[in-house]
Amino acid sequence: MTEGRPQGAPLRFTLPTADDTRALGRALADVLAPGDLVVLTGPLGAGKTVLVQGLGAGLGIGSPVTSPTFVIARVHRDGRLPLVHADAYRLASVAEVDDLDLDADSAESVTVVEWGSGLVERLADAHLEVRLDRAGAGDTRTAELVPRGGTWPARLARLAAVAAPARSRS
Ligand SMILES: Nc1ncnc2c1ncn2[C@@H]1O[C@H](COP(=O)(O)OP(=O)(O)OP(=O)(O)O)[C@@H](O)[C@H]1O
Ligand SMILES: [Mg+2]
Repeated sequence: MTEGRPQGAPLRFTLPTADDTRALGRALADVLAPGDLVVLTGPLGAGKTVLVQGLGAGLGIGSPVTSPTFVIARVHRDGRLPLVHADAYRLASVAEVDDLDLDADSAESVTVVEWGSGLVERLADAHLEVRLDRAGAGDTRTAELVPRGGTWPARLARLAAVAAPARSRS
């Protein structure tokens, strides 16, 4: 763990445009498997929903992926894997997450939760954390993909190989 890129190290990207963020979502879809949990963090307008749009496209989902803020969770079943897209912004506690039954069919699905940090991690043994943020005053965003257990370190290594052009040098 002292030399090179340590196992479990975050993978960082610089994303100048919304299309770059969608492209990262598409690339990420290629390493997703049934039962996965992806937790998205970052401020309002950081690009969390845009990333999920790319992820949905990568899964072959044709139905529109939009912000689920007012419905809390939406399931897209028309892709390679069912995509559960949830927004925990208005949820204050783990108890409320329980009420959602978010994990109803999580073993077969990919579950992606915006604003889920600190609330939904225990729904799965492992998860991928994606931290999105603004970089300065323009459109550029940064993404930091943090593997949290399971096979995520190896899968991020695969993603790093295919998504190399967008990788940040930092
Ligand atoms: N590099 C970029 N990556 C992603 N989105 C970008 C980028 N540049 C500009 N944008 C714009 O920023 C907005 C991001 O909105 P989005 O709904 O994805 O944010 P969000 O993080 O889901 O916000 P919320 O917390 O409200 O759910 C979109 O309008 C998008 O077009
Ligand atoms: Mg959103």
